[in-house]
Amino acid sequence: MGQISEFYKGKNILVTGATGFCGKVLVEKLLRSCNVGKIFILVRHKKKASPQQRFNDYVKHRIFDGLRSTDPLFSQRIHLISGDITIDDLAMSETDMNILIKELHIIFHCAANVRFDDPIREAININVVGTWRMLQLAEKCEHLEVFSYMSTAFSQACYTELKEEYYPTKIDVFEIIKLTKELEPEYLELIEQRLQKN
Ligand SMILES: NC(=O)c1ccc[n+]([C@@H]2O[C@H](COP(=O)([O-])OP(=O)(O)OC[C@H]3O[C@@H](n4cnc5c(N)ncnc54)[C@H](OP(=O)(O)O)[C@@H]3O)[C@@H](O)[C@H]2O)c1
Repeated sequence: MGQISEFYKGKNILVTGATGFCGKVLVEKLLRSCNVGKIFILVRHKKKASPQQRFNDYVKHRIFDGLRSTDPLFSQRIHLISGDITIDDLAMSETDMNILIKELHIIFHCAANVRFDDPIREAININVVGTWRMLQLAEKCEHLEVFSYMSTAFSQACYTELKEEYYPTKIDVFEIIKLTKELEPEYLELIEQRLQKN
């Protein structure tokens, strides 16, 4: 752990998807094992709860019980950023955006939609355009060292063996984004039906 915790020492980190299955484990581990600076978590508004209400519940989650017993002030290292990756500029306030641009060292992008049968337009907006929006933020950050994207076991399903290397896409990603924005719903439905059959 020596080298790893040394790397993270004092670093300010943004985690998207922090309220999700993987994100919660990541935030807890970073706080428990690495002497990080601030952890910013991007939380979206939900019908019944504001980001602030969700944040208040989040820090009470039982995943943090162990941490709470050794470091009762652990939640002071977690900072709420209200936002949504499906909206341009991530629906963040200008103040929050400027804080991130000036302070971030690391981004873990774990926010995603893992319902694989959702309408393709929504899935692309969250998983593809959402990631693009996060990369646009990363480009603006003045001290960023790492952008870490949590991918899925379901990518590159056409290969039986995957190496730790970049696999170019067969279709230009911006073409896919354009298509899903512009195609009439009935054509998108045809594509969805075809994908579900495969
Ligand atoms: N679970 C696994 O075993 C596993 C393994 C390998 C890779 N992965 C990958 O890891 C990623 C996360 O998976 P997970 O299992 O943690 O999923 P999850 O529990 O469904 O969490 C998804 C997270 O994304 C957030 N999110 C969704 N839409 C958002 C939006 N528009 N704006 C901001 N945040 C949004 C959710 O926030 P809300 O709380 O607001 O809904 C939640 O925090 C996925 O890409 C998945 O494929 C997962």
